[in-house]
Amino acid sequence: MNKPKVIVTRRWPAEVENQLKALYDVQLNESDIPMTADELKLAMQTADALLPTVTDPITSDIIGVENRRVKVIGNFGVGYNNIDINSAKEHGVVVTNTPHVLTDCTADIAMLLLLMSARRAAEGERLILNRQWKGWGPTQLVGQKVTGKTLGLIGFGRIAQAMARKAHHGFGMKILFYVPSTPDPAIVEELQAVRCGSLEELLTEAHFVSLHCPGGAATKHLLNEQRLKLMRPSAHLINTARGDVVDSDALIKALKEHWIAGAGLDVYENEPHLNPGFLELDNVTLLPHLGSASEETRVAMGNRVLNNIAAFFARSEPEDRVV
Ligand code: DGY
Repeated sequence: MNKPKVIVTRRWPAEVENQLKALYDVQLNESDIPMTADELKLAMQTADALLPTVTDPITSDIIGVENRRVKVIGNFGVGYNNIDINSAKEHGVVVTNTPHVLTDCTADIAMLLLLMSARRAAEGERLILNRQWKGWGPTQLVGQKVTGKTLGLIGFGRIAQAMARKAHHGFGMKILFYVPSTPDPAIVEELQAVRCGSLEELLTEAHFVSLHCPGGAATKHLLNEQRLKLMRPSAHLINTARGDVVDSDALIKALKEHWIAGAGLDVYENEPHLNPGFLELDNVTLLPHLGSASEETRVAMGNRVLNNIAAFFARSEPEDRVV
């Protein structure tokens, strides 16, 4: 029997690419240059499985391309807002993602941003790199204490809970959260977490606000000018979720006019072309979407995709099926 044809849209860790080569008739992307819409359409017509990632917009035009051969899209990433899920459902294309394996690493980056923003670490490093540091001073780069403060989580899924564990057990932080669904009472108990009745209540009370909701139309600009104004002037906003959850123009205004003290961002609207206003600010820490970027996690994400498509080709249910 012929091996299924699999197309991978970006470079993956070598050990996962080697497994793909052994198992499938695979087309890798050695240049790592994101594929164009036309290239993605052609891939849909020539492969049995497409393995895209968060940088590939898999639109309804691409899914609905005529003479489509692809029957399964194995996304490399837990977030799948890059894929038009309704269109996949409509065309009977199976979509999978990679949950669980990136939970801790993404929560670590959220904690890193929280600490960097609170303690003005990026500003401090810029001072040294720009050769402007004149030595220690009692009032120099004074930030905010983290231990014992209140962390407000918007969304309370796996990554939010992992961050809450690190913050509560490691830094003695009090945990507030806001989520429309009902969370597991055992986890709420373990973290002595308090559920807020509204987003507004959480924004008003928290010293640090961290975003953990999915991206997409339902959460676009959830944090707008009006909501940012509810935050404490000493508060910091952390975003490791998706850039479009925050209105960047409003956030830039909030940071410039000091409605809030700082922000730590790993994700952006229109990534990688972030709003240039961010580059003018001192009170923002900017990372280039590093949430899952550890060797262990990236290999585990690749293996998760391999398991999902192997299940699909074996005619069983992929573990991480989204639609
Ligand atoms: C995801 O998996 O959704 C991340 O944003 C990529 O690390």
